Amino acid sequence: MLTAEDKKLIAQVWDKVQGCQEDVGTETLTRMFVTYPQTKTYFPHFDLSPGSDQVRGHGKKVVDALGTAVKSLDNLSQALSELSNLHAYNLRVDPVNFKLLGQCLQVVLATHLTKDYTPEIHAAFDKFLSAVAAVLAEKYR
Ligand code: HEM
Repeated sequence: MLTAEDKKLIAQVWDKVQGCQEDVGTETLTRMFVTYPQTKTYFPHFDLSPGSDQVRGHGKKVVDALGTAVKSLDNLSQALSELSNLHAYNLRVDPVNFKLLGQCLQVVLATHLTKDYTPEIHAAFDKFLSAVAAVLAEKYR
C-alpha cells in the first residue's frame, strides 16, 4: 500500500528522469541482460549488444510504461492492464524477472541521482516497483 508520502517521493524521482527516459531504460536493460543473463532468453529476436537500437527502443518503451504507472498510482491495475495481459498470456515472462528488472532500474536511478536517491526515496520506489510487478503478474493462472 503506497502512502501519501510514498506517492510524493515517487513523483519526485520521476520528475528527475524526465528527458533521459531512453538512457535510463537502455542502462536498465543492459544491466539486466549482463547481470541476469537468463533474462536474455525472452529476446531471441533482438540484437542485445549494449546500446543497440533495439535495446534503446525497448528501454524507452519500458520507462514510458512506468511513467504511465507513476501517473496512475491509485489505479495501477487498470493503467497496466494491457501490459499485464501481454506479459502473462503472450510473452509468458516468469514473474521472478520483474523483480530483477526492478533491481536493475534502482541501481541505474541511484547511479544517476547519487545522493538524491535517498533511503526514503529508495524505499518508496521499491514499493512502487513491487506494486507494478504484482500487477504484471496478476493475470497468470
Ligand atoms: C514488451 C513493459 C518487464 C519481456 C514490453 C513492452 C512494454 C513492456 C511497454 C512493449 C509492449 C508493446 O510493444 O505493446 C515492461 C515493464 C516491465 C517489464 C513496465 C517491468 C517493470 C519485463 C521483463 C521481461 C520482459 C522482466 C523479461 C525478462 C518483454 C518482451 C517484450 C516486452 C519479450 C516484447 C518485446 C518485443 O518483441 O518487442 N514490456 N516490461 N518484460 N517485454 Fe516487458
